[in-house]
Amino acid sequence: MIETRVIPVSASALGNEASIAVHLRGQGPLCVLLHGYPLDHRMWLDVMHGPLAERRTLCAIDLRGHGQSPFAGDPVHSMELLANDVAAVIRTLSDDGQADVIGLSMGGYVALALWAAEPQCVRSLVLCNTKATADSEAARAGRDAAITTVLAHGRRAIAAAMLPKLLAPNADPLLQARVQSMIEGTPIETIVADLRGLKDRKDRVALLPTITVPTTVIVGELDGITPVADAEGMARGVKGARLVVVPGAAHLVPMENAAAIAAAVGH
Ligand code: MLT
Repeated sequence: MIETRVIPVSASALGNEASIAVHLRGQGPLCVLLHGYPLDHRMWLDVMHGPLAERRTLCAIDLRGHGQSPFAGDPVHSMELLANDVAAVIRTLSDDGQADVIGLSMGGYVALALWAAEPQCVRSLVLCNTKATADSEAARAGRDAAITTVLAHGRRAIAAAMLPKLLAPNADPLLQARVQSMIEGTPIETIVADLRGLKDRKDRVALLPTITVPTTVIVGELDGITPVADAEGMARGVKGARLVVVPGAAHLVPMENAAAIAAAVGH
């Protein structure tokens, strides 16, 4: 059974007050799961129903504006704002104030922002299908184009553009439908605020050598959004980091091969 709770977060210099829905399953030390853009906690359901729940209390967070967490009115979802929400969740739920943090793509950017702001919250890191670099000029222009697209043509257009990049070409149609439905259920305001936050996110390459907790970098061999070369660079940047390249998977490894995620978290 998955238990859903709502954690209140006060307004701060980073953003408005918010209610953060979290979905819990398992036993043992807290492990937070941070989804990518423009998804929600459901991308972790395969992991939550796998063997990791036997040794961790898995907490899949709906970042503000996603899934069951309402849009809080912030024009920009900066990675720092989202990380502040994650820190509030960890402080509320963890017995020792720490969590293993697994972040996919945008969730990985949030995990790095959390390490920058509140490293004491982080017991270990799994950086999954993500990168430490900021957006290039071309990528920033792509964010503006995506904002124009979603405002003009709606979420279905975003889903149509993203789906082929998120999953491997031979992905199960049911998996494709799950991803499409998550994207099409994300409010347009959230998509726009995320895109602005992604566009302006900080370069975190210089942060990597400061990471002192056990870290695993995971990437799908077919990931075109955050390619293997980015993952290799990130793994080289963190002292002692382990790199796992998942065969046959693209950008959503937790849905394409949940076992690879369970294997990455320390015993
Ligand atoms: C994600 O999966 O979170 C996004 O694709 C990340 C990005 O666009 O940089």
